[in-house]
Amino acid sequence: MTVRRRSPALALAMFTCAALPVAAQPRGDRALGEYLSSECVTCHQISGRQVGAVPAIVGLPEDAFVALMASYKRRERDSQIMQTIAGQLSEEEVAALAAYFGSLIPQR
Ligand code: HEC
Repeated sequence: MTVRRRSPALALAMFTCAALPVAAQPRGDRALGEYLSSECVTCHQISGRQVGAVPAIVGLPEDAFVALMASYKRRERDSQIMQTIAGQLSEEEVAALAAYFGSLIPQR
């Protein structure tokens, strides 16, 4: 049996096809975000209203949401509560929460 070497072009095409389904997926899993959000909405209002010192997080652009959570995680933003919460979430979970909260429309 002879083993033929694949052409670089074919290898590239195969690589691109294998990578496509991943790239085409939305960044965050909204259903996972909804599941995880139950903890968040004990403080943050699902309606998107700000209550006291707890800011609204509904309808935030996903990038902004992820950046805010990352800054709590790195302890650049000061909030013991949010630093603790963000510190316990994986990147995937933060992306999921961003996708879920970002998909909600604030009821003000
Ligand atoms: C115990 C109450 C509490 C819980 C639970 C909580 N948060 Fe917060 N969150 C706060 C408070 C208070 C702030 C404002 C902190 C500050 O001054 O930076 C805040 C700020 C934020 C901000 C920044 C908003 C902005 O515009 O500045 C985001 C994003 C956020 N929380 C997301 C979440 C997510 C996601 C969860 C659930 C995984 C969550 N929070 C759970 C109390 C809470």
